[in-house]
Amino acid sequence: MSPQTAKKKTATKKASAKKSTKKRGAVVTSTNNVKPKLYANLVVQLLSLLKDEHDFIANAANFSALLFNSLPNVNWAGFYFLQGEELVLGPFQGNPACVRIPMGQGVCGVAAQQCETIIVPNVHEFPGHIACDVASNSEIVVPLFDGERLLGVLDLDSPTLGRFDDQDAEGLNELVTVFVAHEERLGP
Ligand code: SME
Repeated sequence: MSPQTAKKKTATKKASAKKSTKKRGAVVTSTNNVKPKLYANLVVQLLSLLKDEHDFIANAANFSALLFNSLPNVNWAGFYFLQGEELVLGPFQGNPACVRIPMGQGVCGVAAQQCETIIVPNVHEFPGHIACDVASNSEIVVPLFDGERLLGVLDLDSPTLGRFDDQDAEGLNELVTVFVAHEERLGP
């Protein structure tokens, strides 16, 4: 990976996990914590997969397999890593995908350029969306940082419109933070 300096922006989208339901006149506040629990569990599984292993590609491959097999309604999960001015395909699960994405192009290139998580409820309405799998209808792209340095992006696609929300963004951001922190701790 070529070093590339980019200013890190923290994803600040806040998930609203609580909803109120009325039952026999009483206001009952229930917490929809299904996704937070799922992601908390994935953090534990990811740490277990990474334990004692420092090969970056092997760890990225297992990370993508964990996501692909654990998250419902996902047809592609994987990485694009920054090389110079473009993103290059890394370990992934799903159909073969386009190999190179210039910065600023497609959902991945825009997320990388803006250093922000992007949730796309309907990829057919995203200007410049790069279609790698015709089955994909929605997408989320999460940038990866080593400190302030942009490493690349994590990309997930779904055949379901509106599949990804702020809870997914929060959970995936936590997972990539755990992943990068592990790589930094063990070094090359
Ligand atoms: N849809 C992405 C391209 C990568 S594939 O989805 C795997 C984009 O628009 O950047």
